[in-house]
Amino acid sequence: MKSADLLLLGASQVVTVDGGRAHAKRGAKEMNDLRVIEDGAIAVRRGRIADIGTTNHITARWRGLERIHCRGRTILPGFVDAHTHPVFAKYRADEFARRCRGADYEEILATGGGIHASARALRACSQDELARDVHERLDRMLLHGTVAVEAKSGYGLTVESELKSLRAIRQGAAKHPLTVVRTFLGAHVVPEEYKRDRAGYVRLVIETMIPRVAKQRLAKFCDVFVERGAFSIAEARAILLAGRRHGMRPKVHADQFRDRGGARLAADVRAISVEHVDATRRAGMRALAGAGVVPVLLPSASLFTGLKHIPNARALIEEGCAVALATDYNPGTSPTENLQLVASLGCSLLGMTPEEVVTAITRNAAVATGLAETHGRIATGRHAHLVVLDAPSYEHLPYRMGTNLVWGVVVGGRVVVREGRIL
Ligand code: NIG
Ligand code: FE
Repeated sequence: MKSADLLLLGASQVVTVDGGRAHAKRGAKEMNDLRVIEDGAIAVRRGRIADIGTTNHITARWRGLERIHCRGRTILPGFVDAHTHPVFAKYRADEFARRCRGADYEEILATGGGIHASARALRACSQDELARDVHERLDRMLLHGTVAVEAKSGYGLTVESELKSLRAIRQGAAKHPLTVVRTFLGAHVVPEEYKRDRAGYVRLVIETMIPRVAKQRLAKFCDVFVERGAFSIAEARAILLAGRRHGMRPKVHADQFRDRGGARLAADVRAISVEHVDATRRAGMRALAGAGVVPVLLPSASLFTGLKHIPNARALIEEGCAVALATDYNPGTSPTENLQLVASLGCSLLGMTPEEVVTAITRNAAVATGLAETHGRIATGRHAHLVVLDAPSYEHLPYRMGTNLVWGVVVGGRVVVREGRIL
């Protein structure tokens, strides 16, 4: 008998999301292939998965210091949230109420509300205050089964406030079990004080912000919001290429409300992922598939902004893309940390299968976040980042809409959530 630090035994399913040679699972065939072990068990040693198999297979070979019985429960790879904006100063419930009474999201933004309101509030906050809020939000994500998250700046829109935001993310994540990957989104919108000097703001982003973010190693990715009311294709291209010259791989917020060619741009600049793509037409989808850019779909944002467009997940999958899903957690268009809800919307709004949405919040999301080596699947030798759902099969994950099914979470072999509570 070999000895493990932790044994998870008797799970009704272990959903490995393993198999295939490439990092991402592309197209319907791969995305629907979850590699499930019934009556499954996992042995964990030194933070990594030492063995996987049926419970009989594992108990015949391993004894464990700590044993968790998972009867009636399902084990999946810990979820990866590939797109969030967790550093903001306050919620915008007032704006939401106005929208419920008929106001329009883009109209509010154009008249100094929305992202501008968030920028005014964030500039007045200290890094410590922001970091404390980030930490709390990471806790809520963890309780919902998320073990890694991409986190953007973008509510500062000045040199100092953008740097402060990225440092606040770093500080808030420092003593947290979640893995947090930072993205610089100084080009979220043109701030109000540059309204009459767009070119001046783009220059500030390119010539001052990007070099300083890079020098201080504050972000792995550089993102731009391409939209009317935000940045044009040409501006975005210049910013993303500058980011790339400074070692930050591009990501793009593209085609949220209209197809402006954002998907094509993402393909041209070899972005790791392109987000939203609600209004993207077929040509853009083909470009994404051809360039291997991961489309990160954000159905909770589509729903929350009134379903003007919803991403065509079926067409993207048909074109051979490796689709991912994320919360877009932010105070304007998606104030939810719950990736399980997003998976549910993936099925009900976007027509994805339960298998596809599981792949989209684990393995493909890990690729979109630059974490393909460490996250997103359960396989021998890989880091033990796991979620245990209080449900007998993965089909319950999208089915039990809005319910938090998370019973336990294991990060790097350590049990960090048990019986729905952070330890
Ligand atoms: O991803 N689209 C741009 N940015 C965010 C929303 C920001 C906000 O309204 O605060 C998004 O939806
Ligand atoms: Fe976003």
